[in-house]
Amino acid sequence: MSSPDSPAAGGDVLAALGAHRIVPVVVVEGAADGARLADALVAGGLPVAEITLRTAGGVEAIRAVVAAQPDVVVGAGTVTRADQVDAVADAGARYVVSPGLSRAVVERCAEHGLPVLPGVASPTEIMAALDLGIDVVKLFPASVVGGPAAIKAFSAPFPGLRFVPTGGVNAGNLGEYLGLAPVLAVGGSWMVDKKLVDAGDWAEITRRTAEAVALAHPESKES
Ligand code: 3PG
Repeated sequence: MSSPDSPAAGGDVLAALGAHRIVPVVVVEGAADGARLADALVAGGLPVAEITLRTAGGVEAIRAVVAAQPDVVVGAGTVTRADQVDAVADAGARYVVSPGLSRAVVERCAEHGLPVLPGVASPTEIMAALDLGIDVVKLFPASVVGGPAAIKAFSAPFPGLRFVPTGGVNAGNLGEYLGLAPVLAVGGSWMVDKKLVDAGDWAEITRRTAEAVALAHPESKES
């Protein structure tokens, strides 16, 4: 099995997530809202979306955004079963995120050449992920398992492991996470709150997205 970081397994996608530094965790009901949301994210300067399978329309939303916005780095979130990996690969997802660590999900992603960010919340789960060849994990739920302090503590025995903390991340604390060297990017739903999506408040989504991008890239603001 190739390393998930190798170009063949989508290392370029992980590099893109690391460059953007934020992965919006999206819940939409279907294709139309998915496409509008992608437009709002792009307008805010963040062409990245993790579209979750928490709604029946999640897979179709992925397919719609891939078709309408080929420059958006579209991933599938809340993937818990191998058959869902097949569905999101068919829809064009470029990476997979899971709330926990499933060998079946990780192996099916490898078959499709899709990078996968499995969720971990303990050293034992990290070791299981490393055994499967994973070197970037989603720390979930980050705020519950200890926040930035947990990342510092987990990094000591696992040098080289990179984290995408998700769960409780927001505009007020993303800087603390992104200031840690092992953090590749942060994930979160605050800028794409489902209430805003349901209300069609794309302008507020764009505003929150632009704010998050500015916070994640303070160096570009100074220049
Ligand atoms: C996820 O599954 O990644 C989380 O629901 C996102 O967490 P948040 O809603 O606290 O940002």
